[in-house]
Amino acid sequence: MNFLELLSKPALIAAHRGANSLSPENTLSALKKSIGRADFIEIDTQLSRDSVAIIMHDDTLLRTTNVSKIEAFNSKKPYRVSDFTFDELKSLDYGSWFYKNNAKTEPLLTLHDALMFIKENNLFLNLEIKDMSGAFGDEEVVDTVIKEINDTECSDRILISSFRHEYLKMIKTKLHIPTAALVEDSHPKELLSYLRELGVDGYCLNDELVDKKSVEMLREAGFFVGVYTVNSAARSRELFEIGVNFIFSDSLYKDKV
Ligand code: G3P
Repeated sequence: MNFLELLSKPALIAAHRGANSLSPENTLSALKKSIGRADFIEIDTQLSRDSVAIIMHDDTLLRTTNVSKIEAFNSKKPYRVSDFTFDELKSLDYGSWFYKNNAKTEPLLTLHDALMFIKENNLFLNLEIKDMSGAFGDEEVVDTVIKEINDTECSDRILISSFRHEYLKMIKTKLHIPTAALVEDSHPKELLSYLRELGVDGYCLNDELVDKKSVEMLREAGFFVGVYTVNSAARSRELFEIGVNFIFSDSLYKDKV
């Protein structure tokens, strides 16, 4: 089964940033906790200053690492990920912010290791490429991600999404892989023509933007629809009833919907 075949099944659940209520988001531990609890996993990727693809949601390291406690990095405020080399990123702890009394640490997760984990465990992954506009990585991130996917030979298990829709258009010229446009505040004008122009397979939107008519229009036009972030079982059922293919959730897993 490939990712598009998975999407032919109804009422799918994606573990948002891994099972992020059970383990620190976007770590290998969160990926492991997703197994058996979700239909696929969603994680975020961006580049280090020396162009290594790593797994991290925020543009800065402040919330999900111990960077602010390390004196040597004081000069690097506001701790933008793209200002840190891979070796510097590797030296940080990605877990203690999450665990009670900082009881445990977690290492950095690279895109390479995340993809290997997906492949070795026969899982499915939605990889969100973070918007790197304004950083040097804007030029390189698509090719770097494609290289990692090719090197690990797992393109049939991956859906790529991004809020930076230019990346999705580029990907379709370089790799045969499903893509989805992410939107947050409003729909692009002439939505269906816009999505066809991008060549995407799906559309993932903020729950606040969802309405039945738009979902029906998108599904009839052949696009799959995902909605983020849904943490109520009742709301997830409403969304599935109007034709939404999958939800991204922080806390709802297969046994709870
Ligand atoms: O990819 C779906 C959802 O994760 C988008 O929101 O803020 O978590 O990147 P965000």
